[in-house]
Amino acid sequence: MLPNLSILEPVAVVHLVENRPHTHADSLRSDPRIAEAKRLIAEAVAEHAQPLKQVHPADDGLKPHYNSMLERFGKARGGTLIWPYLSSGLGKGPFVELADGSVKLDFIGGIGVYGCGHSDPRLIEAAIDGALEDAVMQGNLQQHPPSLKMCERLLGLATESGAKLDHCLLSTSGAMANENALKIALHRKSPADRIIAFDNAFAGRSLALAALTDRPNYRAGLPVALNVDYLPFLDPEHPQRSTRWAVDELHRLLKRHPGRYAGFWAELIAGEGGYYPGSNAFFTSLCKPLREAGIPILFDEIQTFARTTRPFAFQHYSLDAFADIVTIGKITQVCATLYGSDFVPKGPVLSQTFTGASASIATGLATLDAIDAMGCYGADGENVRRHDYFAAELEKLANKYPGVLSGPFGEVMMVVFTPGNGSFEHAKSMMDIMYDVGLLGFVCGSDPTRIRFLPPPAITTREHIDAAIVLLEHSLLKFQEQTG
Ligand SMILES: Cc1ncc(COP(=O)(O)O)c(C=O)c1O
Repeated sequence: MLPNLSILEPVAVVHLVENRPHTHADSLRSDPRIAEAKRLIAEAVAEHAQPLKQVHPADDGLKPHYNSMLERFGKARGGTLIWPYLSSGLGKGPFVELADGSVKLDFIGGIGVYGCGHSDPRLIEAAIDGALEDAVMQGNLQQHPPSLKMCERLLGLATESGAKLDHCLLSTSGAMANENALKIALHRKSPADRIIAFDNAFAGRSLALAALTDRPNYRAGLPVALNVDYLPFLDPEHPQRSTRWAVDELHRLLKRHPGRYAGFWAELIAGEGGYYPGSNAFFTSLCKPLREAGIPILFDEIQTFARTTRPFAFQHYSLDAFADIVTIGKITQVCATLYGSDFVPKGPVLSQTFTGASASIATGLATLDAIDAMGCYGADGENVRRHDYFAAELEKLANKYPGVLSGPFGEVMMVVFTPGNGSFEHAKSMMDIMYDVGLLGFVCGSDPTRIRFLPPPAITTREHIDAAIVLLEHSLLKFQEQTG
């Protein structure tokens, strides 16, 4: 017997949304009850977050439960957490409440994830929209229109000044975005199997990326999944000499392994390497011979995206002509690999069940809007202004506490300083003191080891920077006491 097809008949379309017929989901989204529910949630969040506008010590009554959760967490994951940090789930701007009742000034934001700070009403609203999108995760087989919107938005930003980036592949982690980037390059240049990267590179935690990352202890006991050769990065104190050194080394490598290189992989501001900026001259002198040798150029913008004078650091350094494959992540909530049409793989080497959670895509789009609303970009945009203000305040501390804090202070919204003698021990104890005082920053680099800040670009104000400087001075005094 034939099935009753009447259940498949289209339902009459009643209203128009944006001048097109609408779906039942469209009418759900425009239901006034949804708007009212969002309004009530925003009102409640604002009310409960109101007191969270300065740092605060933990509540003694909450400490035992908190400590027990930390211990259980360590057991469950097979190792203690890097920080004794468990969020309460609420914050206000850069201030975040922990589950022990303490409030911290968060200038690291999960190493760049909290671009709008904490409990931003725009992101909560977007997350509700994401929750109304049915699927918790989207993926290759069953996608939703917001994924298309995100891809087109990122491609629009990436091609603003002429980069040839035609395609965008979403993914759930920076490591996966970088894996996809490497696969695209290796596939294109097969059988070439070597990559050129910079000293101190960090690319993520997959097997191939552990080989690319220049930290031997991150690949201890692991097989080497990729052959990588390293170039020295730009030395801010000796720009010409270090550029010459890097270019000479590049030529030596190209001669030593002719036809074996599938890609040149670069962070344009050394991230884990210590927040040292690159420059147009430095990268151009490397990218030109790479281009001539037909080696694909990959820019990892997972940490730099939205933190310079342009959405992408390759635009900040006017390197659009060299951007073959670009990855982003962190602040965008969903990660992505952007690449040109010349690089479309000929085989099915790229695919994932999960490309992003509906809420991640919605909050990522809302974050991009919030960054635009703050006026972050431009030579005189908020990213530059806040960097200059922050760096000037750090310079004052450097003069007041010589040998305790020193520069250079990073690039735009990637701010950094060197504590004490630049040893790992000094940086670690400075970071721990800051944590106790209530200011969140994190170590980076080696020789010297430094403390970095990633203030949330969409919401940081001068008042927040002033609050960070007060906490930092307090920490410096304690550090001085401890280190003599
Ligand atoms: C430059 C860079 N690339 C890649 C990654 C890896 O991203 P994820 O930790 O999301 O895998 C990171 C993360 O810190 C990063 O900073």
